Amino acid sequence: MAAKARTVYVCSNCGYESLKWMGRCPDCSQWNTLTQELRQPPAKASAATGRSSALPVVDPAEVIPITAIDETDEFRYRTHISEIDRVLGGGIVPGAAMLISGDPGIGKSTILMQIALPLSEQLKILYISGEESARQIKLRARRLGVDSPNLLLCCSTSLEQIVSTIDQNAPDMVIVDSIQTVGLASLSSSPGSVTQVRESAGRLIRMAKEQGFPLFLVGHVNKEGAIAGPKVLEHMVDTVLYFEGERNLPYRILRAVKNRFGATNEIGVFEMNREGLREVPNPSALLLSGRLPDVPGSCVACIMEGSRPVLVEIQALAAKSAYNVPRRTATGFDYSRMAMLLAMLEKRAGYSLGALDVYINVVGGLRLDDPAADLAVVAATISNLMNRQLGPDIAAFGEVGLTGEVRMTGHIQARVGEAIRLGFRRIICPKQAVAQLGSLPSDVELLGVRTVGDIRSLLG
Ligand SMILES: Nc1ncnc2c1ncn2[C@@H]1O[C@H](COP(=O)(O)OP(=O)(O)O)[C@@H](O)[C@H]1O
Ligand SMILES: [Mg+2]
Ligand SMILES: [Zn+2]
Repeated sequence: MAAKARTVYVCSNCGYESLKWMGRCPDCSQWNTLTQELRQPPAKASAATGRSSALPVVDPAEVIPITAIDETDEFRYRTHISEIDRVLGGGIVPGAAMLISGDPGIGKSTILMQIALPLSEQLKILYISGEESARQIKLRARRLGVDSPNLLLCCSTSLEQIVSTIDQNAPDMVIVDSIQTVGLASLSSSPGSVTQVRESAGRLIRMAKEQGFPLFLVGHVNKEGAIAGPKVLEHMVDTVLYFEGERNLPYRILRAVKNRFGATNEIGVFEMNREGLREVPNPSALLLSGRLPDVPGSCVACIMEGSRPVLVEIQALAAKSAYNVPRRTATGFDYSRMAMLLAMLEKRAGYSLGALDVYINVVGGLRLDDPAADLAVVAATISNLMNRQLGPDIAAFGEVGLTGEVRMTGHIQARVGEAIRLGFRRIICPKQAVAQLGSLPSDVELLGVRTVGDIRSLLG
């Protein structure tokens, strides 16, 4: 007897499945993301006996002694846009499936068009769009200065059609913009649903591996509705790139959060203008431009983004609250980490924050996850609470623990080097770091601190 299709509820954010509807996804904690989908039973197979039927006999796979494997670097296509090549771990690996996700309008189509430009000199690139007409794409390409007979456009949302187009044109690289618009006619669920997105992506990824072409999939981040978010694909692809930034700021950050072919957390920094994205080789200078150096509540943090040190300004504002429960807001910094640091300041350092709203802001749209930013967050907060500035030439790094101790972090040479390069002369750091940092220019002073209590004496 053939099994009937059954109804499941699938989280459009993370792909969690449940047999009953729930208001909140237990996996990713998003509200109203579970949507109904029909699930086809798996083809014939084990349904009849309830046991796995005998496997068909096939030829065995080849085995190779590990000593016979050539470990020299894989071949990569280089875009010669160094910010992109670095994020990708040195370039694009043939057969790799790469997901680029980000908010609508952030510039995903733009960056892919710019990646295609240098590569189209040698490679045949197929750009499949389900969102825009060929004319719209041509207009963007013209604005970006992209023009190449090797860049082939195809507007389609049918996976069946896309597969035969790839087969017929045998491209060297494929871009699908976006995967949420693509669907199989044979599946009952609507395009954009978790089932459609997974199934379409799965088939395209298999084709990429078999035929050896690199595949870029665009995934829009969406906050509501039945369109599957890019998270449901993250385990299927080799590389996950986040394209981030604030819409009203020109900076864009490309970040590898997963990469089977390179280090993660490498970032590329770009500036968006009419001609497209321009590389920013010196992000610290950009992120610090426009900073008011001598106001209370500001501290520059030396953080690591992947292998690269970056300086960012952290601002703190503590103001009397009009509410019974004071507000806490963090932009670019982890909310619960901020709450922990504020509770620590209250309990261990004797600052009274109970009646104050506290805002923490990382200037420039960067989202920090380096714990070494803690010390700058704490220093900016204390500076604002005391209404005394830290001084324009001070930068800080160090992790802060629950007892208020300032802990050692990695990459101290790189952090200090970047701070010195950008003209900072006094660097607040963990006490242990002072001994480990070798000779520094004579006008540079390291202000080693053991606990957050030591910060007060450094205020101007
Ligand atoms: N004609 C234009 N001139 C200048 N900038 C434009 C123009 N059209 C679009 N843009 C910029 O490009 C951005 C859209 O980029 P796009 O690559 O289409 O985003 P995504 O693919 O992520 O949705 C817009 O937010 C806008 O800032
Ligand atoms: Mg787009
Ligand atoms: Zn979920």
